[in-house]
Amino acid sequence: MKLFLSVLFLTAAAVALVRAAGTDGEISFEYHRYEELRKALVSVWLQCPTITRIYTIGESFEGRELLVLEMSDNPGTHEAGEPEFKYIANMHGNEAVGRELLIYLAQYLCNQYQQGNETIIDLVHNTRIHLMPSMNPDGFEKAASQPGEIKDWFVGRSNAQGVDLNRNFPDLDRIIYINEREGGANNHLLQNMKKAVDENTKLAPESKAVIHWIMDIPFVLSANLHGGDVVANYPYDETRTGSTHEYSASPDDVMFKSLARAYSIYNPVMSDQHRAPCRKTDDDSSFKDGITNGGAWYSVPGGMQDFNYLSSNCFEITLELSCDKFPNEDTLKLYWEQNRNSLVNYIEQVHRGVKGFVRDLQGNPISNATISVEGIDHDVTTAKDGDYWRLLAPGNYKVAASAPGYLTVIKKVAVPYSPATRVDFELESLMERKEEEREELMDWWKMMSETLNF
Ligand SMILES: *[C@@H]1O[C@H](CO)[C@@H](O)[C@H](O)[C@H]1NC(C)=O
Ligand SMILES: *[C@@H]1O[C@H](CO)[C@@H](O)[C@H](O)[C@H]1NC(C)=O
Ligand SMILES: [Zn+2]
Repeated sequence: MKLFLSVLFLTAAAVALVRAAGTDGEISFEYHRYEELRKALVSVWLQCPTITRIYTIGESFEGRELLVLEMSDNPGTHEAGEPEFKYIANMHGNEAVGRELLIYLAQYLCNQYQQGNETIIDLVHNTRIHLMPSMNPDGFEKAASQPGEIKDWFVGRSNAQGVDLNRNFPDLDRIIYINEREGGANNHLLQNMKKAVDENTKLAPESKAVIHWIMDIPFVLSANLHGGDVVANYPYDETRTGSTHEYSASPDDVMFKSLARAYSIYNPVMSDQHRAPCRKTDDDSSFKDGITNGGAWYSVPGGMQDFNYLSSNCFEITLELSCDKFPNEDTLKLYWEQNRNSLVNYIEQVHRGVKGFVRDLQGNPISNATISVEGIDHDVTTAKDGDYWRLLAPGNYKVAASAPGYLTVIKKVAVPYSPATRVDFELESLMERKEEEREELMDWWKMMSETLNF
């Protein structure tokens, strides 16, 4: 009898536990202020501790943490060959939908992982995903503190110093446009200039922290989430001539269009060709299939999107997710439903193109080797383990791997839509080549002397 009772008790306790976990796993469609955002991320971490980690990349001007939730099968480390992905939201503090969507996304990925969803398990096992719900927590608090449901169009957009963070990045477009004409680097334009970044007093603390983040982690793909319109916007954002509207193609225009489309296609509102503009006065003439070139829409100097592409290997697009920047709380569930499949599908794009390793003939990794694709004037470089990822649209390409002191190797590669084609390179060092040539010469002399008998 006593035994039976305790078994019963245990069963009840187990049921209660399962219930509690079930409740934790549900997504709560509400706004999260700074403290609540923290708690929401911690609760995802508590629910999925083996695949998540919370870290901070620095502090806002008013001292709030710039929190990131990482999801991966090995949180905290870059695994050789595994691509890294990031979402950044709320850099304009009053554009609140993206901030909430990233919290819901974290909860969703954790729930689906635990429920055994194969798609999500594969994604988490093969990708290192970083989610930053708020790059401008000070601006958000300011916007959210306004009384009533209707929020001002501008209050909270900037950081606490009044800096518009999406105009605050080093203007690398100006440099690349000069290099295009006069020759010069086509990638990593801030190479060896970290000190200059640190000493630049015009950069807001939020921008500085994100610049370091972009340059320190080998990100392959990213999106930054905004509000005020509904469209997926791709580089370049700043026009070549300085005019307000002008299509400004990057060397990877074909791939960027494909990436932007991979987002818009699953969002029924964004991809709706007959969607009325958010406001009667809006000029949406550059929008097609829910995507637009940045410069064709309107020129943005000093933005984060182009900075990613020009300072690192990372391809970034900008997502405008809602006409209203700070819509009523009861519409948040709807925004989640409109964007859920897009958010997941866009992460999966990181597994496209060509990827692999560059090593020497002894099998040692060659980091900072250059991967170039014939016909595309934008190179990427290998990470610490010699691993690289080169996003490419479907087609046939000639891909070259080169590094100072090594002989360049070129390979022909057929790229399908996905997954990425694996191509490894073994580079022979020039020293080894010289040694071989010397040995060949010696053999020749030996043969000659034996033949001629001298
Ligand atoms: C698994 O996740 C994918 C991607 O989010 C989703 O489309 C699919 O419906 C999920 N499957 C189940 C059974 O929930
Ligand atoms: C990477 O290589 C480039 C050119 O090959 C060079 O200018 C740069 O200093 C290298 N960076 C590092 C961190 O070694
Ligand atoms: Zn914005």
